[in-house]
Amino acid sequence: MQEEQESWLDRALEWLDERTGIYGHTLRQAPRYAYRLDFWLGSFVLASFLFEVVTGMLVALYYVPADPYASTSYLISSVPLGALLFSLHSWGAYAMVFLLLVHMTRNFIVGAYRKPREIMWMVGTILAGLTLTEAYLGYSLPYNLISWTATTTGLNLFTYMPFGLSNLIAAMTLLPQLPGIASGVDPLVDRFFVFHWIVGALIGLVLGLHLYIFEKHGITPPLTKEKDRSELIDDYEEKLRNDPNWKLQPLTRTFGIILVTMLMTFGAIFLIASAFPFQISLNGGQIKYVMPEYNPALAAQTPPIPDWYFLFIYFFYKSVSPSDASLIFLTWGGITLLFPFIDQYVFRHRSPHPVMRPASIALGVGFIVSFIVNSVWAYLTPGRDIGPIGVEVDGTVFVASFLALFPTLRWLQRRAESEPETFNVGKRLGFANSVSTQTETINLSKPVSLGMDLSILASLGLIAYTTTKMFLLTNLFADQFELGFLAGINMFLVSYLVLIYTLRGEES
Ligand code: HEM
Repeated sequence: MQEEQESWLDRALEWLDERTGIYGHTLRQAPRYAYRLDFWLGSFVLASFLFEVVTGMLVALYYVPADPYASTSYLISSVPLGALLFSLHSWGAYAMVFLLLVHMTRNFIVGAYRKPREIMWMVGTILAGLTLTEAYLGYSLPYNLISWTATTTGLNLFTYMPFGLSNLIAAMTLLPQLPGIASGVDPLVDRFFVFHWIVGALIGLVLGLHLYIFEKHGITPPLTKEKDRSELIDDYEEKLRNDPNWKLQPLTRTFGIILVTMLMTFGAIFLIASAFPFQISLNGGQIKYVMPEYNPALAAQTPPIPDWYFLFIYFFYKSVSPSDASLIFLTWGGITLLFPFIDQYVFRHRSPHPVMRPASIALGVGFIVSFIVNSVWAYLTPGRDIGPIGVEVDGTVFVASFLALFPTLRWLQRRAESEPETFNVGKRLGFANSVSTQTETINLSKPVSLGMDLSILASLGLIAYTTTKMFLLTNLFADQFELGFLAGINMFLVSYLVLIYTLRGEES
């Protein structure tokens, strides 16, 4: 890069690099082909995790585990910005689980779990387990009728876990008599609150490992028409020198796109949490928590409803005996964890292209279809047993989805293998990417056009307008959701401006 083209930020980062090695080790410069938002889905999950850490610490300032329901209600109905904060933390948790599922699905489809990223995938699976555990613990903390009923039902079901896991859970929930707990409150909430911190910290630690390994390998290159992507990895140095798509980009561009993913994630959570306050009613200036407090008598008549991402597992408990359901659940977990090796040694897939991985893709699609069917079924039958018909239908749906896809993919795979010259699957299915040839170049340059100039001006104008409106809102209690909504809009507008700045073309 020429000296005169560098911005002050590039120069500042180079200064830092000379002293810390940030360019070479801590944060890799990404190649040009990676500057598309679908290559940054993990960054969206990271953003939602950071969001949860910050909002969680703020919510914790008001949370009293010895009197959980009263302190949650107090935060919502009496603290300025309290209801917004609660709504942000709750919707943020949903966003994190959702984005994690999207990130996982994308990595599955593009085959990002394959060599040399097997451990990356396994660490990711552990992160998924920890995230679900964190969500389970968080769901229990407000101690409302629905959440605590579901929590105790879940705990009860965990006691059927095989391989000594039930003993581990029993030991972790074994309680000494704690002083100072409000009457009628289960002392376990106090323990769960501590676990909520511990599991959050564990996610942070394991995430550090995930990102460390990521910096070692970089992002999986896009699908190409070349038979085996390992060729691309082998001639990495060569590509860096000669292929314009592999040209490393300034670190400021990486920071820019990370900032965009953060702002978009925060903006989306702010907008949703303000438009749909989480379990909160706004009646004539009165802001109230709508959920009733847990009490054992009412709980006996309340069907336990877990959060949406647990419905899939809950379905099995409603269908077969708890020990069989635990076994199914653990089997799925084990298959996910070891999937890179199943793909390589059992299915013997040798190329990352989805068409060249027929068994894996058909299995993945079967899983997604069965996940959706089970979740909807469990949601529609709250508190009722489904019976063995549940797993029978589930098994049929799974096998039918697998069989519907597998033969077609297998046929395409065979043709691609036997006629590699004439039958270019990548191109036919629209997967072919410009990295496959050296002449087509991904163009980051966004020439400044009148339309873009106008959109920048309009964004700046809107930012000025919404910011002024935010400053005019003086009642931090009554106006908190309006404030949150305006903040969300602002974040999206700023993310648009940063995106334009980040992806602007090189000057020469
Ligand atoms: C707390 C949850 C997680 C966070 C914050 C996270 C974050 C990230 C980040 C920032 C990246 C860099 C590339 C990108 O932005 O997409 C990444 C890559 C990756 N993650 Fe995750 N991740 C999480 C969970 C998972 C899970 C559940 C899996 C799969 C089981 C997974 C598998 C991977 C793989 C295979 C890559 C490499 C992608 C590639 O090379 O194309 N991650 N992750």
